[in-house]
Amino acid sequence: MKHETSPEPPAPLPIDYDTVHVVEAAHQAALVDELAHRGSRVVAIEGDLVMSAGRPGVAAWASNSWLAPAEYSLASINEAARTLKAIQRNWHGHHLAHFRRAELIAAKLPTIRFRPLAFPSMPPAAPLGAWSLVARDRMIVSPRCSRPFADGQPVFVEDRHGPPNRAYLKLWEALTLARHWPVAGQRCLDLGASPGGWSWVLAELGADVLAIDRAPLAPAIAHRANVHPQAGDAFAIDIDTTGPVDWVCSDLIAYPERLLALAHYWCRAAPRANVILTVKCQGTVDTDLIAAFYEIPGARLAHLSANKHELTFFRLADGGPAEAARWPADA
Ligand SMILES: C[S@@+](CC[C@H](N)C(=O)[O-])C[C@H]1O[C@@H](n2cnc3c(N)ncnc32)[C@H](O)[C@@H]1O
Repeated sequence: MKHETSPEPPAPLPIDYDTVHVVEAAHQAALVDELAHRGSRVVAIEGDLVMSAGRPGVAAWASNSWLAPAEYSLASINEAARTLKAIQRNWHGHHLAHFRRAELIAAKLPTIRFRPLAFPSMPPAAPLGAWSLVARDRMIVSPRCSRPFADGQPVFVEDRHGPPNRAYLKLWEALTLARHWPVAGQRCLDLGASPGGWSWVLAELGADVLAIDRAPLAPAIAHRANVHPQAGDAFAIDIDTTGPVDWVCSDLIAYPERLLALAHYWCRAAPRANVILTVKCQGTVDTDLIAAFYEIPGARLAHLSANKHELTFFRLADGGPAEAARWPADA
């Protein structure tokens, strides 16, 4: 019996970049500064794609980094689809232009159902490539991307009743990338907890939550048996007052310098705890200051789809998540 085999992909065109970063327009300047800081050169910018050369790897401000880019010239829609299928099965098209043609190519690829994730659950394990038709007859493809979600953005089955606001999505996304989360009986510190979205996430997982804020928690969160609200200044709390903690989470609104000191303190004071902290940026991003976060051993930074003008800092016991940037840059 004759089996149908995918033909070999055609030879790629020569390119002068090693990574493509997808970035929101509002964060493009911060990404370009970050790349310069890492010793990467920006070679081209096409729409929301920034092509860089020098130090391949994940960039913190990117919503997805394409880690194995190649370009192909294509004579037809069929040829484009054949090329993608010859490389691998699962693709997500990132369309900047030539939308109709891109749709016709996409229609010839295997259908992937991006089912919303029910938290807590692991991200998809199958590799998801990205492609973009950057000209009518030229496409960039990358079978390897930093994040396993379409355009790097996980979609969750949302809970519209339990949490008091939508900030819970940021912690869901961070814990999903972390691939582990607090379990029943673990002790979590939630700094800047009001009105209680993050505390709700931690409490739902069965953890014991010490929730600190100057402002009160929503009553439905404050009254949960495993949530212990404490009114006061989160910067004045230390490990002697909290006792041992397994997770330190902070979504405090504060100057990044203060948050850097806070990250240093908790990473040192609780060396085995997992630390997840929002780094709020103000106006123009101070790349030197962001770089100082990487000096904390095990630090990683990522711009999550739920982040606004901010990054999420991770210091996890297992060194992850791989989707977040670390220093020196990882290939
Ligand atoms: C973005 S909100 C936190 C939202 C929260 N993570 C949630 O899911 O509902 C930031 C919080 O930081 C608190 N905050 C800012 N500075 C603080 C400080 N020095 N001590 C305690 N809380 C502070 C504010 O009162 C505010 O409630």
